[in-house]
Amino acid sequence: MPLLKPTQLEEAAELLRGGQVVAMPTETVYGLAALAMNLPAVAKVFKLKGRPRFDPLIVHAASMRQAFELAADVPPLAYRLAESFWPGPLTLVLEKVAAIDDLVTAGLTTVALRVPDHTLAQELIAAAGGVLAAPSANRFGGISPTRPQHVLQELGNSVPVLDGGPCRRGVESTVVAVCGEQHPVVLRLGAITVEQLSDVLGRPLEVRNSSDQPQTPGVPGAPGMLSRHYAPRTPLVLVERFEQPATGQRVGALSLDQSPVGYTVIERLATAGDLVEAAANLFAAMRRLDEADLTRIEAILVPEQGLGRAINDRLRRAAYDS
Ligand code: TXA
Ligand code: MG
Repeated sequence: MPLLKPTQLEEAAELLRGGQVVAMPTETVYGLAALAMNLPAVAKVFKLKGRPRFDPLIVHAASMRQAFELAADVPPLAYRLAESFWPGPLTLVLEKVAAIDDLVTAGLTTVALRVPDHTLAQELIAAAGGVLAAPSANRFGGISPTRPQHVLQELGNSVPVLDGGPCRRGVESTVVAVCGEQHPVVLRLGAITVEQLSDVLGRPLEVRNSSDQPQTPGVPGAPGMLSRHYAPRTPLVLVERFEQPATGQRVGALSLDQSPVGYTVIERLATAGDLVEAAANLFAAMRRLDEADLTRIEAILVPEQGLGRAINDRLRRAAYDS
């Protein structure tokens, strides 16, 4: 049962309606979904992930209308962003309505909303009969799953996974808070680039993303934005350039396009420096390296522009403290 084919979507919806959790594909990463209004089911999500209760979940809707019903106030700039990027990998943090429980939002007065750009996700939300709370379907602190098999590796065979194949985008949604009259703030870099956002808003916007800034180790800037996150078990170190490792050492190399000599496993994220391709490959490459029984992984950051900022953010977090 763990893997459900797209034709078994109704079965997945039935499980959700019965208060179970189901892993669902989205364009970014796989999510571990429960009906957001079913609190025992949401509690199962936290438990299965080993996720602390102070880290709020994103609520996934099938349409902008369904999403904004959950916001107490939708500022004009939130509309503008939603119209430009939904369905898609943008999460908007807005003042919540009372119907959204504190468990989902970790006691905050705001709720994170997103309309995924994935047919199966949209159909699942519609068939389940309500919005779905879903964090990435990895164990807390681990690498987000971009393939159905990754979910099984993370959570075991007990969680049914709706098989949507590999995720197209490969990095999580960009989280943007839009509160009242304030200008929007980026809380997590992601698949929608900062450049795309400021093009729509007509001015630069603040990025308050903890791996960008000095902070107290382990204290989240936005809830859930712990520095060490997306981390393989194998130590990952950022390097300026690859230098041939000592003989006998098992070292992995992760970069956009380099093939250095003497490394046991080499992961190149893209063929022609394409950052879209690199993002789609990033987490699967990190997993392969982690499974190769290496003493360490060396990684070189990609260009710090466009999607490269989100890729580098994940690499910095993976390297943090290792
Ligand atoms: O692409 C994605 O966003 C994926 C797919 C499954 O949709 N989901 C995902 O969820 O990455 P998760 O739980 O791994 O990350 C959600 C992020 C966390 O950093 C959390 O702290 C932040 O969103 N978040 C959620 N609600 C928030 C709120 N009310 N205020 C500020 N940040 C919030
Ligand atoms: Mg996550």
